[in-house]
Amino acid sequence: MGFKEEIERRRTFGIISHPDAGKTTLTEKLLLFGGAIHVAGAVKSNKIKKTATSDFMEIERQRGISVATSVMGFEYNGIKINILDTPGHQDFAEDTFRTLTACDSVIIVIDAAKGVETQTRKLMQVCRMRKTPVIVFINKLDRPANDPFDILDDVEKELQIRVNPLSWPIGSGDTFKGIYNLHRQNLCLYSPSIQNIPEGIEITDTRSDELDHHIGERAAGKLREDLELIQGVYPSLDRQEYLDAHVAPVFFGSALNNFGIRELLDCFIEIAPAPLARETEERPVRPEEEKFTGFVFKIHANMDPNHRDRIAFVKICSGIFKRNTNYLHVRNGKMLKFSTPTAFMASKKSVIDEAYPGDIIGLHDTGTFKIGDTLTEGEKLHFKGIPSFSPELFKYIENADPMKSKQLAKGIDQLMDEGVAQLFVSQFNNRKIIGTVGALQFEVIEYRLLHEYAAACRWEPINLYKACWIEAQDQAELEDFKKHKAQYMAKDKEGRDVFLADSQYMLHMAQENYKKLIFHFTSEF
Ligand code: G4P
Repeated sequence: MGFKEEIERRRTFGIISHPDAGKTTLTEKLLLFGGAIHVAGAVKSNKIKKTATSDFMEIERQRGISVATSVMGFEYNGIKINILDTPGHQDFAEDTFRTLTACDSVIIVIDAAKGVETQTRKLMQVCRMRKTPVIVFINKLDRPANDPFDILDDVEKELQIRVNPLSWPIGSGDTFKGIYNLHRQNLCLYSPSIQNIPEGIEITDTRSDELDHHIGERAAGKLREDLELIQGVYPSLDRQEYLDAHVAPVFFGSALNNFGIRELLDCFIEIAPAPLARETEERPVRPEEEKFTGFVFKIHANMDPNHRDRIAFVKICSGIFKRNTNYLHVRNGKMLKFSTPTAFMASKKSVIDEAYPGDIIGLHDTGTFKIGDTLTEGEKLHFKGIPSFSPELFKYIENADPMKSKQLAKGIDQLMDEGVAQLFVSQFNNRKIIGTVGALQFEVIEYRLLHEYAAACRWEPINLYKACWIEAQDQAELEDFKKHKAQYMAKDKEGRDVFLADSQYMLHMAQENYKKLIFHFTSEF
């Protein structure tokens, strides 16, 4: 197979949802369809159960599992599919945001009875920002669900994207009869099954009696009505509109019962984008370029506390990555080669010789990488679109063991490179402030500092509402602002100016009074 064909046949995507909507189940069923696993339950999620908040061992165990399931690759009908796992727990939302930067498209799972929930809404904001094409899967139709038209309206309104149903449910819960595939025009009758993959029945003419025969007169009547309405409201799918992230195709089903998954997967491989060109600060990089480029979007520390080894996850953007070949680490200017790059197939890891655009490889890292780093064959490129998000929780971090201040500094440094949280240094009192998106991170940091770096930290409260990055259109105004807000100014790890507002009111006033400054809520602008 040629280089171009290898790129064309790759689909790299993430599945996102509010916890419990069925992301893990859907992931597993896709692997089952792809023949990558053979029994349900073979893949454990990296889901951090809600009860795990104070159970560090559980967090550690789950983190271990998540290395194996960070990327799940498999082949389906000649298409190489890479599913990137995204932690559902909201405390790890930042991890999910970054993983989305390595996805070429996204599948959103929504619970048919609950509709769009908070976490989904937040993640969709990131997709919108990056113009990522999304497909929606409405799950749990085997349970009583909302009316499908209402669900579509809810999705359209809450996710702020036009929708286009490609399959349609016939009833739900006890009256659930099956799915009509609008895309392929066939009927799939529902029979609950954890293991089997149901076959569809060809019914191209829904006016025929055959439909009544299969699902009963009443349901058939209702389906005909629905279909008429659908035709009136939703035009047929324009793939380009999907690729431009203007329209989201919608599928219905029950992941647990293997139902509606084939429709989703078959359509997905047909319409979802192959790896796309990516922006760098210097120029766009096309996947079919001969020379290898890639960027680090995730760093995962290993489980073994005696080794501080980490795995850096690299998304390949162009060219062919080769084992034992020298590549430029653009940030530090060093040439590096990798003898054991790994690829991820289902839940297995294996050393590979080559990888193509769209693929994700794991590189053994002893602390040389940080999130956003670029690897190339020599060109100095910097990939864009890997922002940090404004954290919502803040604490001062203090050294609790004076003998271990070096270890603490190193630990904080490396954990921040991994993207566990963000560090700000107050320009006022020089104290270090850690900002996170979830409360759990503080516990994770404390635990890992102790176990991996033998350093002890102590948290002290700080009353902050938000950290935002300041961009100046007028240098004099910035200087004036810094002078007046000296108490509230900090630098991030890159040395950029950050304003630490202690209330919504204060932020609002600052925005009002300093019109020539822009207050950013992500670090990339
Ligand atoms: P998540 O990763 O999005 O958090 O959700 P997950 O797949 O773990 O699913 C959450 C719960 O919903 C699980 O039950 C799962 O079995 C159930 N579920 C998923 N898809 C369907 C579906 O199509 N129909 C029905 N009725 N249930 C579904 P649980 O009891 O919380 O977990 P488990 O102990 O069964 O794993």
